[in-house]
Amino acid sequence: MRVFLYVLPLVLALGQASADPKYCLNEMVKSDERIRSHGYPAETHEVVTEDGYVLTLFRIPYSHKLNNQHLDRPPVLLQHGLFSNSDCWLCSGPDDSLAYLLADAGYDVWLGNARGNIYSRSNTEMSVNNPKFWHFDWHEIGTIDIAAMIDYILDETQHSQLHYAGHSQGTTVYLVLMSERPEYNEKIKSGHLLAPCAFFEHGASPIFTLLSPLVGTPGGIWNQVFVDSELIPHNNLINRIGDTACGHGSPFDSICKNGFLMFANGGYENINLTSMQTLIETHPGGSSGNQGIHYIQLSVSNKFRQYDWGTKKNLALYGQELPPDYDLSKITAKTHSYSSHNDALCGPEDVDTMVSKFTHLTEDHRVPLQSFNHLDFIVANNMKELVNDLIVERINTYESR
Ligand SMILES: *[C@@H]1O[C@H](CO)[C@@H](O)[C@H](O)[C@H]1NC(C)=O
Repeated sequence: MRVFLYVLPLVLALGQASADPKYCLNEMVKSDERIRSHGYPAETHEVVTEDGYVLTLFRIPYSHKLNNQHLDRPPVLLQHGLFSNSDCWLCSGPDDSLAYLLADAGYDVWLGNARGNIYSRSNTEMSVNNPKFWHFDWHEIGTIDIAAMIDYILDETQHSQLHYAGHSQGTTVYLVLMSERPEYNEKIKSGHLLAPCAFFEHGASPIFTLLSPLVGTPGGIWNQVFVDSELIPHNNLINRIGDTACGHGSPFDSICKNGFLMFANGGYENINLTSMQTLIETHPGGSSGNQGIHYIQLSVSNKFRQYDWGTKKNLALYGQELPPDYDLSKITAKTHSYSSHNDALCGPEDVDTMVSKFTHLTEDHRVPLQSFNHLDFIVANNMKELVNDLIVERINTYESR
């Protein structure tokens, strides 16, 4: 039953080996087309970071249902998780997905794409085939990419603050930016963390047991395989596996669901298969191996801290033998956390730890439905009622709406 899990490292390695330079980006529906297909206006923007990465931001500037293009529309930035991209905020369609719900509530909605994902695969200085391109992890995505996106959006919209919502790694990068560059707290009107991920001491997902011995501490051979290289690129092979295993009425349905064991301890009753199918079309979205390694390191150290390069390089980089912790007490922006019980990656006890490190957390909301899991924040039938409506409501109160 769990064979898919044991095969996972192999699939990852295969993904490495078969990295298809010819992306199927041409064949797939991109975020802007997806938005337009539902009748909404869509824009595409490019932000160049201080280190040359070209990031694509998609925008739903207003809602055609409201015709509010001439009214004040407070900006909101939505940031995706690991292996994901801007489509995760769209894949459940206008009735349920957060991007559309916010647009229909009168907001100017921006969808971020981190360096290395399918929409942000270029750099003004180097090619994606250069290993240096992949020398980053979510530390840089937080401190450089998200900072650049925020500045771009504020400049473009002539606002002094925006609302932020992130899922999974989209929460990690928020925590990193707000603690490492605390001046950014002033630019956040409110922050909303969906399935927040910082500590991994209790992670129940087999992915931790599986990968910790391989890449959990610096120096091992597996680190050299995955470091500074692209992890699970969006290529035809990986996609075919996803499609076959997870398609409607597929005979492999149970294997597929077991593959997704990494997100939950069973219990997939909330998943909307239509949304899941749409999600799979554009996923996995591409990322650096360092992002995965860094997360696995946290599950071994039980700390929320910077990348561990080993004593020698740590000393050179950080001036200390072990990497420095991210200091969550520096986060002063109004921050709301939305977490769930059945989250095998970032579960309730680890959320407790995160909450305890905050000194200014505004809200610690736990989704009351016990079966709700990590991925349900993106593809569940009931995510509108259980999560998204709450977020829109909270944001409305900050805007006195
Ligand atoms: C499932 O998602 C699709 C869009 O992906 C939506 O049209 C449909 O209403 C959803 N079904 C339920 C039961 O929420």
